Amino acid sequence: MASEIDQQRLVLIEQRLGETERAQRRIDWPLWSLRGLSGGLFSLAMLGIMLAPFTEVDLAGSVGNFVMIAAFVVLYFFYVWRFRPELFKEGRKQLLFACSVLLCAAGTKVALTFPLGDLNFEWLVPLMLFGMIYAVVFDQRFAIDATLFTLMAIVVVALRANEFHAIPIIIKLVGSLTAVLFTYNLRSRYKLAIVGLSAGAVQSVMIVAMHFSGDWHHAGGLLDLVLWVAMSLARGMVLGVCATFLLPLLERVFNITTDLRLIELLEREHPLLQMMQERAPGTYQHTRNVANFTKRAVEAIGGNALLAEVAVMFHDLGKMVRPEYFTENEPESKLLHDRLSPMMSAMIIISHVSDGILIARKHKLPQSFEDFITGHHGTATVKYFYFKAKQQAKEGETILESQFRYPGPKPQSKEAAISALADHVEATARSKFAGGLQHPDDLRNMVRETTNNKLLDGQFDECNITRAELAKVEDSLVKSLAALYHHRVKYIEDPDAKRRQEAVAMREKYKQEQAQRKEKILTQ
Ligand SMILES: [Fe+2]
Ligand SMILES: [Fe+2]
Repeated sequence: MASEIDQQRLVLIEQRLGETERAQRRIDWPLWSLRGLSGGLFSLAMLGIMLAPFTEVDLAGSVGNFVMIAAFVVLYFFYVWRFRPELFKEGRKQLLFACSVLLCAAGTKVALTFPLGDLNFEWLVPLMLFGMIYAVVFDQRFAIDATLFTLMAIVVVALRANEFHAIPIIIKLVGSLTAVLFTYNLRSRYKLAIVGLSAGAVQSVMIVAMHFSGDWHHAGGLLDLVLWVAMSLARGMVLGVCATFLLPLLERVFNITTDLRLIELLEREHPLLQMMQERAPGTYQHTRNVANFTKRAVEAIGGNALLAEVAVMFHDLGKMVRPEYFTENEPESKLLHDRLSPMMSAMIIISHVSDGILIARKHKLPQSFEDFITGHHGTATVKYFYFKAKQQAKEGETILESQFRYPGPKPQSKEAAISALADHVEATARSKFAGGLQHPDDLRNMVRETTNNKLLDGQFDECNITRAELAKVEDSLVKSLAALYHHRVKYIEDPDAKRRQEAVAMREKYKQEQAQRKEKILTQ
């Protein structure tokens, strides 16, 4: 009977995983249509910038320009599809990139329409600023490519206005790429001023070199050169400071979480975490373990481990509201729950999710953390109190499981799904194996059971995690748990081995007795 149920569970699990894999293979036509539409709108906006102020517009020329821009857009899509497919999922970041390109193109147009000298072009087209923003929002490698794409837009507008001068463009490119490269290992946004200043210094060297090479006809005498160098240094620093203040604004407007923000949250102990350490020390310890487990498991599938680690540190904020109702903070919490109905207890437990969301919003934590706060329980059932309610139910009374479920939503990302597994196995291991393991396979069986239960309950239906990824996650979780519990192993001894040891001991004893008897006979 048991094996029949197991068989049915297995079939259901296979069905759910198969569904995820089929969904991943399917081409998402509405999404591709939306991308096509965005590309078209971007091309039209670029054309508008090029043709402004629309005094000499000829149809053939406009169509030609549109096709040229569209070709660049297709090239960009192909580049992302070929080398950075994960960026397709980052729609908001892509929107930020598109807006930046349009801003640079518009700045170029304004600078060339109202010529106030080359300095005008330098200030109105701050490619270095965008280079730094790209490096922080995306990463250095993409930032280099994104800077080159942005430069293409600047060149296209300058060519249309018959005002293309290669030297200022080259100097701008050198400064911007230097700024991108100098963002390496950036741990605080305030260091962007130093990055800008350093890029300005490299740009100054380039300016001096170009001046003395005689190729740069725009530069005047030595006084002009000094002015250019001073402006280059000042601009680098000002743009660095601008990036420092612009980044939080862009994060808010485009609703994105940069790695820099995550590093800042991780390195400087957040006041909320300090509060948790005081109010709910057990939850704080649990949180640290879960963050560590999640980070390793997400690394194993190549996901965003930094986001997962930092977000998990804030996943149980809501437990600070009534910490004494959670076992990890108060071993006698059962006594408190005994005074309440199971329904009331479940409500208190469930409310830590909504409380967590409220606290996170009040303290302006990144919105991406909410998937972890709600997703780590998804729509799971608070089983302990559900079963307790069923036990205490009167004759004919029906207990609805839906009343004991968390409100959800289910995890929307693989990272949040992994945090749900890590959260569950950490808590289970703490209550089940505190006294030690009975068998080396205990941890693997518990992790497998947790994964299967979550799959059967449909908790991973909205996060696209695959069978292969789940296998890697399970391995990683077992390793993480083993690091905590291996020294508490209390394996049951093999009865055969014990019998063998007894037999050997008896034989040894017999041999000794024989030797003693022989000795006795010889000495008599
Ligand atoms: Fe929780
Ligand atoms: Fe938790």
